[in-house]
Amino acid sequence: MSSKLSTFICQNCGSETSQYFGRCLNCNSWNSIVEEIKSKRSRYQEIKNNKKSKPFNEISSKKISRFTSGFREFDRVLGGGIVPGSVVLLGGEPGIGKSTIVLQSAGKISLNEKVLYITAEESLEQVKIRWERLNQNSIDLKIFAETNLSLIIEEIKSVNPSFAIIDSIQAIHNHEMQSSPGSVSQVRECSSELQNLAKDNNIALLIIGHVTKDGALAGPKTLEHLVDTVINFEGDNISSHRLLRSIKNRFGSTFEIGIFEMLEEGLREIKNPSSIFTNKENISGVTTTITNEGTRPLAVDIQALVNKTFYSNPRRTTTGISINRLHQILAVIEKHVGIKLSEFDCYIATGGGFEINDPSSDLGVAISILSSLKNIPPLASSSYIGELGLSGQVRKSNNLRTKIEEAVRLGIKNIIVPKLEEELNINFQNLINIKEISNIKEAVNYSFSK
Ligand SMILES: Nc1ncnc2c1ncn2[C@@H]1O[C@H](COP(=O)(O)OP(=O)(O)O)[C@@H](O)[C@H]1O
Ligand SMILES: [Mg+2]
Ligand SMILES: [Zn+2]
Repeated sequence: MSSKLSTFICQNCGSETSQYFGRCLNCNSWNSIVEEIKSKRSRYQEIKNNKKSKPFNEISSKKISRFTSGFREFDRVLGGGIVPGSVVLLGGEPGIGKSTIVLQSAGKISLNEKVLYITAEESLEQVKIRWERLNQNSIDLKIFAETNLSLIIEEIKSVNPSFAIIDSIQAIHNHEMQSSPGSVSQVRECSSELQNLAKDNNIALLIIGHVTKDGALAGPKTLEHLVDTVINFEGDNISSHRLLRSIKNRFGSTFEIGIFEMLEEGLREIKNPSSIFTNKENISGVTTTITNEGTRPLAVDIQALVNKTFYSNPRRTTTGISINRLHQILAVIEKHVGIKLSEFDCYIATGGGFEINDPSSDLGVAISILSSLKNIPPLASSSYIGELGLSGQVRKSNNLRTKIEEAVRLGIKNIIVPKLEEELNINFQNLINIKEISNIKEAVNYSFSK
């Protein structure tokens, strides 16, 4: 049974209406609404008559046995590896390296598991050329070049892999639907059929989706609730570094990041990521902080440039921290250090543009600003950790122990931290000089006294 229905779907946010509007009522974007005919029948439907409710004591709680993606960084972002039967959405801008990382991973997984790579964008020959450049040597990886959903589903059923990859969701289509590939209804429809197939057959499925400039997965922003895990692959076109970041994960934390470098022969994991976001020189306007990214501490430089302004409203810009945090830190400095900053422009950038969400970077930002303003380098070989409260106090930071350990590992000599609750000091005797402070004023006096 199949009934045709016409609806109007915003290609930007995925909201549906029954009539055409020039502007989406939900997200306000112009000319984003397209009429789509959808077929209501789901082709992949297995009605199981044996499904019944069960008491808890009859349900086995077998631990999920994950398998490795072949990359430790990727595994960590996934929450410890790939979960059988799970659906992962890997998003990123075109050209960032999604096909590359997934092909490398598929090659490694196929040494132990049955893997099927479905290429809907590139021909078998194109994938083969990449494969050779990446120097992969598994002979068991299966590749299928197809864009038609029915044929893809049939192939997955017949191969019955442990792991299947769709590259990409925007390139495949359900031929029973009249809307074009990449449209919201196609993306939704294809994903939900693939999802059912994966769940019923315990196949781990990785779906690649292109992301538009504004950060939304084109159309499939609406996919995020459907899948188990959403991972973004990020980077800029200037540096060769690439970051995997989990933004939703039913099987792990969403704070993990994985760091890679894009080389001619493919993506290489960065084992010592702190080194790429810091610079050892001691110059004015630069401090190092240690943030927490999931289970891992990461040292990142914070650079400030403070200049007398020529504008009636001073300029404030940031890269890597939020502009609101900067405004708040400037207000705290004005009030509690007693320095008027309204005549100064202030620019902040983190090392490598790394996005810091950990509020304990506040102190580093404040000291960088004051260091640039005074044109005096902060204390040599130092790292700053602490969130600034509005009353100028330095609030405690999560995972301080791991952060101090990272500083020790990097050979940092001094670390300026909030008052310690436990006797952390004893553990680090002789390894690093720990200075506990309770407010910004103390941190300033300590940093610029010598
Ligand atoms: N011959 C090559 N040598 C080195 N790097 C390459 C080469 N070809 C492609 N790349 C890198 O791979 C990137 C494209 O990766 P790809 O996995 O196809 O991206 P996506 O699938 O996300 O669109 C390019 O931007 C470039 O950085
Ligand atoms: Mg690709
Ligand atoms: Zn909309």
